[in-house]
Amino acid sequence: MQEMENRILILDYGSQFTQLIARRVREERVYCEIHSPAVSIDWIREFAPRGIILSGGPSSVYGADAPPFDAAILDLGVPVLGICYGMQLIAQAAGAAVEPGKREYGRAELRIADTSELFHGFDAAEPVTVWASHGDHVDQSPAGFDVLASTRDLPVAAFRRTGSPVFGVQFHPEVAHTPRGDEILSNFTFRICGCEPTWTAGSFIDDHISRIREQVGDAHVICGLSGGVDSSVAAALVHRAIGDQLTCIFVDNGLLRKNEREGVERAFRRHLGAHLVVVDAREQFLNRLEGIEEPEEKRRRIGETFIRVFERAAEDAGRDAKFLVQGTLYPDVIESRSVRGPSAVIKTHHNVGGLPEDLGFELVEPLRELFKDEVRQVGRELGLPEELVGRHPFPGPGLAIRVLGAISEERLAVLREADAIYLEEIRAADLYDDIWQAFAVLLPVRSVGVMGDARTYDNVVALRAVTSRDGMTADWYPFPPDVLGRMSSRIINEVDGVNRVCYDISSKPPATIEWE
Ligand code: XMP
Repeated sequence: MQEMENRILILDYGSQFTQLIARRVREERVYCEIHSPAVSIDWIREFAPRGIILSGGPSSVYGADAPPFDAAILDLGVPVLGICYGMQLIAQAAGAAVEPGKREYGRAELRIADTSELFHGFDAAEPVTVWASHGDHVDQSPAGFDVLASTRDLPVAAFRRTGSPVFGVQFHPEVAHTPRGDEILSNFTFRICGCEPTWTAGSFIDDHISRIREQVGDAHVICGLSGGVDSSVAAALVHRAIGDQLTCIFVDNGLLRKNEREGVERAFRRHLGAHLVVVDAREQFLNRLEGIEEPEEKRRRIGETFIRVFERAAEDAGRDAKFLVQGTLYPDVIESRSVRGPSAVIKTHHNVGGLPEDLGFELVEPLRELFKDEVRQVGRELGLPEELVGRHPFPGPGLAIRVLGAISEERLAVLREADAIYLEEIRAADLYDDIWQAFAVLLPVRSVGVMGDARTYDNVVALRAVTSRDGMTADWYPFPPDVLGRMSSRIINEVDGVNRVCYDISSKPPATIEWE
């Protein structure tokens, strides 16, 4: 076997928590990658991980749909940790029965029998809380395995193959409901696998600067800037690598928030010094959206117009670019590798503000290995200001999906003012960084009000603020009532045409973050 790299391989058996395992490992500053369980043993040898984690998964090891598992993984001489379904795979390979059961999750008290290695630092006399799955489980340890821990319902909550570093846990150390789970994972990565905490934003930047230079040589490169975190950090990194060979293109589609275009221009010129072309395509977009109410149709038209405008701008930039920078992040890459395949399309997010593959450019995707929080760290390390790296995500179709129903200049203007006041108050209350995303929505209804002595019949604005780790699930944010009160009275008093403000208290699921 070649010299082992300082990294962990995670094989994804389809658990909704697989990405969390990767995050936890990365938080310990150890590099890891998630791959499909269909990779071959030779591929794993070539990848040369210091350790392998087998994720949980929805299947039963006896099921016809069970993903592939090659038991030779356990004999590569590389430490293995099986989590939940991953543990059942190890047990089955070792000849133990996996007992079927109804899948139920719950907290359990773990009693630890062996506090060396995996449970180093724990106390055998003190049970710890873990979040366990009461689905299929292992009731009896296979021959040649030692039981390391148990719970009331799970006599074999953790085991180890005697004399070799193959471990299994029946619970989920990666979730927040297992409060000391990070210690278990760090025991595995450092103590058992011998990894070093070398994965930092600085090391990532150095490594990628040379990779980018190698990939593009002396060719010209263009980058579509959205003003969001991902494209800004991608541009900054590529600029650090190749300087003036990069041209950034920012399209003003008329669907931006108040002062957004000016803010992006200022931040870019000041902090990046990269060559920036700003295209004013407001009219073109608004014409294409006239009278369109259906959200997916809005997205389709915006996406199509964006491609046309971008192609033209790239041509006009006149530098015969061969490469295109994309801010693709790791969650998108994983999605296409997972055993689950791409999840069902609820909204066609990734097609909007993105570009099709057949545009004739080769792609430079320097953030393909990063999670959002890591992108932010890289941005800070590159010297980008907090106003850029700490920004809330903003969807490609912009305010078009926040003016519900048909879009007009007037309605966009009303929304812009309300949204700006809302964000101003959030910042004034020092709550911006506690929130994943906050925005105002202009509803397609009118409501009756009274102003002075006169009846009004005007617009309703809904305010939305959510906390989330990744946008996949979200909780509504509990603003203090006085903050909500200030937001509402300022919007109603200062924005012409609004006489009512509502606060959206729906979580995702079943609602989504955006209203359209
Ligand atoms: P939902 O509304 O699906 O949003 O809960 C999850 C995250 O995705 C963003 N979003 C989009 N981003 N193009 C984008 O680039 C889109 O069409 C789009 N729709 C939603 C949304 O703002 C949230 O961060």
